[in-house]
Formats: sequence, structure tokens, C-alpha cells
Amino acid sequence: MSQLVSLPSRLTEVGLRPETRTGGPELSVVVPTFREAGNVAALVEKLDAALQGCAWEVVFVDDDSPDGTADVVKEIALSDSRVRCLRRVSRRGLAGACIEGILSSSAPYVAVMDADLQHDETVLPRMLSTLKSGDSDLVVGTRYAHGGSADAFSKTRGAASRLATWLSRTLTGVKLSDPMSGFFMIRREAFDPLAASLFPQGFKILLDIVITAKGTLRIAEEPYVFGARLHGESKLDTRVAMDFLGLLLAKLSGGAVTPRFLSFILVGTLGLGVHLAALDAALTSGLSFTPAYVIGALVAMTSNFLFNNALTYRDKRIKGLGMITGLLGFYLVSAVGLLTGVGTASWLYAYQPVWWLAGFAGAVMGAVWNYSMSTLFVWRVK
Ligand code: GDD
Ligand code: MN
Repeated sequence: MSQLVSLPSRLTEVGLRPETRTGGPELSVVVPTFREAGNVAALVEKLDAALQGCAWEVVFVDDDSPDGTADVVKEIALSDSRVRCLRRVSRRGLAGACIEGILSSSAPYVAVMDADLQHDETVLPRMLSTLKSGDSDLVVGTRYAHGGSADAFSKTRGAASRLATWLSRTLTGVKLSDPMSGFFMIRREAFDPLAASLFPQGFKILLDIVITAKGTLRIAEEPYVFGARLHGESKLDTRVAMDFLGLLLAKLSGGAVTPRFLSFILVGTLGLGVHLAALDAALTSGLSFTPAYVIGALVAMTSNFLFNNALTYRDKRIKGLGMITGLLGFYLVSAVGLLTGVGTASWLYAYQPVWWLAGFAGAVMGAVWNYSMSTLFVWRVK
């Protein structure tokens, strides 16, 4: 309250006279975009028609789309101050784009919707009045409740969506009929405290919000009919599906098993196969065992480095000459990791001579070491 009371005087202090002030938006519609140049103008028109009588703005959060989506938005924004563009560079991810878009808003209510017109904008006024009535903090657009539908989906995509819905409802216990929905409206004050705990990767921003809030949000649902995409194509791919499984695991393990760690372990497991294949090739070419083994290890570490750089740490990807120092650092970390693993295993074996237990503990220690050190020193994730 004290903040509100002191606000006018602060505005006068910075030289804004009361009569020159205009009201800010009541609703920010946040739209993540990647290659949506053909859809932006149509969406703005539809929002304009649907939100008559409401002070709204739309924030397109574009991940530097190569088709010039950001330029199209900025062109429209030149003649319409309700339109904003947040252009992010060197980053990808629907969820992260939504988080930053919402954080850029000052409006008390924020909606998230897709740019491709698959979400029905005419539902927005009803969502807004539900929130304004004061009984809910979050309204979720649902395709899986009476009055909603997802018939626009292909057979496989429909089945995948239902499977993901079932998985997340059973594993996390959220009560939503459509936890996979990318269409919702939330009170900004309910969102802001959660922002720092959300995952920026992948698509599942809504599920993440609801899980992270731990039952503190009052949730309402609003059915809508999921339409067909206007232009362009869907960006939901296997990586997005993996991110989704990673999110479920991370949330279920209380943050112990992160998607990044999982990816690191997967790459490492693949590296084991690479090591054996390279060892086999080196032996066949006539080398004796020890040099063949060292070559196998170098090949495996190099391939692990490249895969981790492309997948596990794709948001911190090392490029250009930095690749050389990165690779050398990764060799060093892996070598020390090997020693850590051997040390742990032998120490344990001396006390408890169960070979598989000692071997497993050694492997876990080595993996955790490699992961932590690579994260800190090779890819420098803070
Ligand atoms: N900024 C940004 N960065 N935007 C992205 C990215 C990204 O990496 N990937 C996708 N988007 C944007 C798209 O441009 C689009 O506006 C929106 O996010 C949804 O992406 P689509 O590629 O159209 O997803 P979809 O139609 O397959 O999936 C929709 O339905 C799912 C439920 O079945 C989305 O609404 C999902 O959120 C939803 O879970
Ligand atoms: Mn879509």
C-alpha cells in the first residue's frame, strides 16, 4: 500500500505531470514465436476484434526467427503501440520465451497463446472476467472438457497428446483436464514469485507453473476448440518430447535429476558404445591393446564433447576456437573423473568386496564428477 501511495509523488519527481500519463494495459497477451512471419498480422487483427473495450497489449517473444518474424512485428508496432516485440538472440525455447514475455509485462493479467491461430482468441474476454471476478488465479484453456475439442490433430499427434496428458496427470497428480495446454491466463502477481523456479526449455510452461505452485493456485478452466495452423509448421519435435519427460522427472525427483543431467548420462552411455567400436576398429587395424584402448577413449571423449555441446549444453553452445580449449578441458575433466571413479570403487571394494556394487558406485561418482565439473568449467553454466 505504501508503495502505491508514494507512486504519484515519484512520478512527479521524475518529471511526469499527472495529465500527461495514460493508463497502461490491463491485459498482456504473450505470444512466443519461431518462424511465424505469416501469422502475426492476422493474430493482431483477431485480438483487436476480440478484445474491444479492454486495455490490452500483445508481446511477441521471438527467438530471432530466420523468416524475419521480429521485423514483421516491429513494422506493425510502428503504427500500433499495443504491439511489442521482445527479440531474443542465441536462445531457443517456448517456455523460456513465455517466462520472459510475462516478466516484461506490467499488466495485472497475462495470457499466453500460440501465434498460429490454433488457440481461440474469442475465449480471452471470458478468461479475463473469470480472473477479475477474484475467485481464480489461473484460467486454463482446455480441449479436453465439455465444449472443447482437439479434432484438428492428426491421429498420431492426437494420440501423443492424450498420452502426454495421461502421463502428467498420473505422475504429478495435477487435476487439470488439459495440462499440456499452451493457452492460459494468469494473475501476474501469482506468476512472478514462481518465475525463477521454472524450466526455460521445452513447451510445458503451464504444467511447470502448476507443479511449482504446489497447490496454491486457484484454477478455473475454459473450454475451446483447437483449430488448424494458419501458416508454417509445428515446432514440436522429439527434442521437445524429451524435454517434457525431463521436466516430469526433474519435478518428481525434487530437482535432483535435471534434464541436463539426464542428457549428459544419455550421451555418456552412447559414448560407451563409441569407445567399444573405436577400440574394436583400432585392434583390427593391428594396434596392440593399450594404445588401441587410449585411442578408443579419445574418440569417445571427443564424440561425447560434441554431443554434449550440441544437446546437453545447447543453450551454452561453444563455438569457433573456444571448441579447442573446451575439448581439452573436457579431456581433463574426464580423466580426473575416471580416477575419481576408480578411487571410489577400489575404496568401497576394500570394505565390501561386492564387485557390482563397487563398480556401480564408481560409475556414479565418475558421472557426477564429470557432470558437475563440465557444467562449471567447460560450459560455465552458473
Ligand atoms: N520464442 C519461441 N521459441 N517460440 C516458439 C519456439 C521457440 O523455440 N518453439 C515454438 N514456438 C512458438 C510457435 O511459433 C508457436 O507460436 C507456439 O510456440 C506453439 O508452437 P507450435 O509449433 O505451433 O506447437 P504445436 O501447435 O505443435 O503445439 C501446441 O499444442 C500443444 C498441445 O498439444 C502448443 O500450444 C503447445 O504449447 C501445446 O502443448
Ligand atoms: Mn501450433
